[in-house]
Amino acid sequence: MNQPPGSSNCASFQSSAEKPFLKALAGGTCSPPPIWLMRQAGRYLPEYKATRAKARSFLDFCLTPELAIEATLQPIRRFGFDAAILFSDIMIVPHALGQKVWFEEGRGPCLEPVRSTQDMRDLSLESFQDVAAPVYEIARGIKAQLDPQTAFIGFAGAPWTVACYMVEGSGSRDYAKVKGWAYGDPEGFQALIDLVTEATVVYLEAQIAAGAEALQLFDSWAGALPPAEMRRWCLLPARRIVERLKERHPDVPVILFPRGAGLTYRDFAFESGADAVSLDSTLPLAWARDELQSRVAVQGNLDPIYLVAGGEALKRATLEVLEALAGGPFVFNLGSGIVPAARPEYVAQLVELVRGWRP
Ligand code: CP3
Repeated sequence: MNQPPGSSNCASFQSSAEKPFLKALAGGTCSPPPIWLMRQAGRYLPEYKATRAKARSFLDFCLTPELAIEATLQPIRRFGFDAAILFSDIMIVPHALGQKVWFEEGRGPCLEPVRSTQDMRDLSLESFQDVAAPVYEIARGIKAQLDPQTAFIGFAGAPWTVACYMVEGSGSRDYAKVKGWAYGDPEGFQALIDLVTEATVVYLEAQIAAGAEALQLFDSWAGALPPAEMRRWCLLPARRIVERLKERHPDVPVILFPRGAGLTYRDFAFESGADAVSLDSTLPLAWARDELQSRVAVQGNLDPIYLVAGGEALKRATLEVLEALAGGPFVFNLGSGIVPAARPEYVAQLVELVRGWRP
């Protein structure tokens, strides 16, 4: 059977007109599987750099509808991915809670750190929705422009990862300050996690109202914690967020990305209530297939650096992922975000490989 380019045929739902990405998250098997890439909008694209240059700051970029809508659509136009992800950043939540947030070239996010319950006094949900309002306008604008095959993903940082930045004040090598607070004063730190959890629910519900059809929760620094702490600060808040979202939006799938969780990925798959887990590149494919895919859809997990290398290496690694995981509910993605050194022609090669794949 001939298929138009850019479309997947989903075994379990052949007669349905649903989007392949949503079918996979609902437990369907698609051949070829749907594909999108974390950080698919970004500095590896010349058109992104041109749009970025029009904004005064990265935060302004994220809150200016015309620019953020354009950045979201650029990778869809160029590569025809199965899903568009809201162009934004996980730092919008601390910003809308009233924390001072800015971005420095080459350093990433910088925040006036919150290191104690006392420091939390200036944070609140009071102005949250007003400050975040442009994000919802951006989401509505994107939704209005996407073609009917392309799904629209909203997202937020998971409470632990957002708290890492809120407490450290920037990225960190050892997370000594945030872990020191969490281990030394768990009740105090719980108040910060609870506040971010509440903000995240409000934020994601508003993204759904603005048109998001699926949500991803990025817990990029889950792997900084040992298992018992990972359960308390990553798994339990994620479960709480999923529970709250499912109360009012049972049909909106949630993807969890507990990067670096190792064997604890199994607990996230079985206990969080999420519809899918996004796998980092360190996970053995056969383990992910045998231990996780029977319970949830899986997404991932090509090392993004294959998009720097290209050629035969990219082909071999891509086929390995497909052969291991595409026999069940699966969304092709990377194990973490695209890096600025990735080459657009290798991204095109990847999309072609995935779309050409048959079992
Ligand atoms: O995936 C997408 O295309 C949507 C956009 C998106 C961005 N950040 C845009 C961005 C998403 C989903 C994020 C999530 C995010 N932001 C995470 C979780 C995922 C991950 O990568 O682990 C984290 C930890 C952040 C915080 C953050 N924002 C960092 C550490 C940085 C600096 C990194 C860098 O590449 O410079 C940012 C800035 C940022 N967020 C950029 C983009 C495109 C680059 C900024 C620029 O263009 O100057």
